[in-house]
Amino acid sequence: VPWQQAAARHGLTLSFVKITPAGEIDLENLRAQLSPRTKIVSLSHCSNVLGTITPLALVKKILSEQGSDALLIADACQSVPHFPVSVADLGVDFLVFSSHKVYGPSGVGVLWGRAPLLEQLPPYQTGGDMVQTVTPTTATWQPVPGKFEAGTPNLEGVIGLGAAIRYLQTIGMENVAAHTAQLTSWLLAQFSELPEVTLLGQPHPESGIVSFTVTGIHPHDVAEMFAELNICIRAGHHCVAPLHAQLGIAASSRISIGLYTEQSDLEKAVEALKNCIQKFNV
Ligand SMILES: Cc1ncc(COP(=O)(O)O)c(C=O)c1O
Repeated sequence: VPWQQAAARHGLTLSFVKITPAGEIDLENLRAQLSPRTKIVSLSHCSNVLGTITPLALVKKILSEQGSDALLIADACQSVPHFPVSVADLGVDFLVFSSHKVYGPSGVGVLWGRAPLLEQLPPYQTGGDMVQTVTPTTATWQPVPGKFEAGTPNLEGVIGLGAAIRYLQTIGMENVAAHTAQLTSWLLAQFSELPEVTLLGQPHPESGIVSFTVTGIHPHDVAEMFAELNICIRAGHHCVAPLHAQLGIAASSRISIGLYTEQSDLEKAVEALKNCIQKFNV
């Protein structure tokens, strides 16, 4: 498998932390897998399928309790757009998120890392502007972050991302979270009255992520019925095929609630879902 091979090239072996039936990271399983040889613990902060939130500060505490010096890396692609995130509070060593999920341009994102760790890291690629001095046999690199910015940068992307971040900051992430939580809770309450609908995991209202299956109806048919009412949802495995395999399903449908979502959109979504159940007569 390519990622196992990539890990092996660096002398690492890759193992996976289990999830609980509610879709949370199984902290007992994490604890059991930790050893003095554990170098990196990498977790998604918020699942893009289950809408569950990983208690990273608690994970950090578990690492400290076990005397582990493993680095803690967070994929915050789904948390940063939805609620306030503080790297200091989470205690992570590295954190990443994508621009397009914070309403910025695609093809750019953020890697945050603790300064001493970034200083230790070698450049992952070489190119224009990242060298300080160069001879045929030696080179020295620009200080962080320059040494990681080889080549002509994606200037438009970075400027656009900056504008998107300022836009969200103007609204205030607490307000974004409150908006998402209110709409998601409303939708979850509607879903609980539809016995044909099975939720994947127990989504946190602030995640804005509601993945589900409908008994006897293919997720793509569900998405099609939503599209008839101009509601765009995603169907498939949402780039997380192993999780779907573990849940014993091939695919699911996902409603993603964001800053732009309004109550009327969700009312249409529920109508679409009811039409779907009626049409397919499940
Ligand atoms: C949790 C999570 N991580 C990573 C990604 C991938 O981000 P990118 O498209 O920037 O590679 C996604 C979605 O695309 C995601 O939801």
